[in-house]
Amino acid sequence: MKILIIGSGGREYALAWKIKQSPLVDKIYCAPGNGGTSLITENINIEASDINALFNFAGNKGIDLTVVGPEAPLAAGIVDRFERAGLKIFGPNAELARLESSKVFAKEMMRKFGIPTAGFAVFDDPVEAKEYIDKKGVPIVIKADGLAAGKGVIVAESIEEAKNAVNTIMIDKKFGSSGDRIIIEDCLTGEEASILIFTDGVNIVPLVSSQDHKRVFDNDKGPNTGGMGAYSPAPIVTEAVFDKAMKRIFMPLIDGLRNDGFVYKGMLYAGLMIKDEEPYVLEFNVRFGDPETQAIIPKLKSDLVQVMLNTVSGGLGRVNLEWDKRACVCVVLTSGGYPASYEKGRIIEGLDKVKGTDDIFIFHAGTKIADNHSASGTQFLTNGGRVLNIAALASTFKEAQSKAYRAIDNIKFDKMHYRKDIGDKALNFNI
Ligand code: AMP
Ligand code: GLY
Repeated sequence: MKILIIGSGGREYALAWKIKQSPLVDKIYCAPGNGGTSLITENINIEASDINALFNFAGNKGIDLTVVGPEAPLAAGIVDRFERAGLKIFGPNAELARLESSKVFAKEMMRKFGIPTAGFAVFDDPVEAKEYIDKKGVPIVIKADGLAAGKGVIVAESIEEAKNAVNTIMIDKKFGSSGDRIIIEDCLTGEEASILIFTDGVNIVPLVSSQDHKRVFDNDKGPNTGGMGAYSPAPIVTEAVFDKAMKRIFMPLIDGLRNDGFVYKGMLYAGLMIKDEEPYVLEFNVRFGDPETQAIIPKLKSDLVQVMLNTVSGGLGRVNLEWDKRACVCVVLTSGGYPASYEKGRIIEGLDKVKGTDDIFIFHAGTKIADNHSASGTQFLTNGGRVLNIAALASTFKEAQSKAYRAIDNIKFDKMHYRKDIGDKALNFNI
């Protein structure tokens, strides 16, 4: 089979690495990919947003399955376009991608199907929004309706901060038309974790739980990022929490959508706030998480391509995933300055010292290959905010964590930054 993977991050590298192990696969393309994927797939110089070019490429090359990494092409209707022409593609259509691309739509679905989530109100008028803030008090959460690269959510601790957030989103239009409407939500407390599922619109096949680290600095300080590291499983997701998430969140959503005539196919990710073993939905994503995927994929023993084919064809009822029971800790190495401005083109040293080490995985993200690299070895340069993901598997979280950090000790680039506390929250739990 020929597979096309769309995207360029650590998530796409991890998917490519796993897909390459499938006996069903002869050839993998990655569009546009990164420095790392150029060694394990064939990179194609087409941006993830260029749906026309991707469609033509898949048709001309006879691609058997296209796997979409990021949300933007899903929201823009790539699945609809491919499916109309009979091309197999993994992901939901544009209408259902609104579970991520419109927070208002997601909240309306949650309300309709009785899914536990924070209380909320929707506003398209900043004056009314501010009146509501005065009435509700703080803390309170302000969210842009549309996609905002993970930056459209402000958890406000003061009335002033909350009203400023309304101004930034609705009046200054920091996120463009994504801020035409906002949601104002009650502030939930607890611990966050993620559960991802494969679904064909009828059956649900869950993945192991995981936990992201969104803030840039240790102890959850500093601004939100795309994710600075993850571990799996998330001990806060006990069996009881997992069970509730299936029965109260995923099943009512998938069944409710289907009864309304919407068949959701692909990956569905629920970001949860968990308190006293009660899960509440903070957000849905309609794709694999990044960096959650990099902490989950090393644990997957089953053939990922087979599961994806079953998802697309409606045959998930026959699928049972097998997992490595060990702990996985994944640390993200970033360019200094990220998530604000940062420099690119720095030489990355030491990757060869880590390569081939047992149960340690280097998943490339913002890297590229230097033009003048020598025959003796590939020279990688930094080429993005999140540069590399170093994941390690071990029988305890403590061991997985030290393995990942010991590997990182070998790697260097100018202004390299990473969190030193990825996995700390899981250290007191046995798997
Ligand atoms: P979201 O993109 O909706 O998941 O929001 C981004 C982050 O904001 C989440 O990971 C939480 O840390 C925080 N957040 C979102 N909604 C709430 C809420 N209702 N209460 C408390 N924190 C929230
Ligand atoms: N790590 C959060 C996300 O993928 O949205």
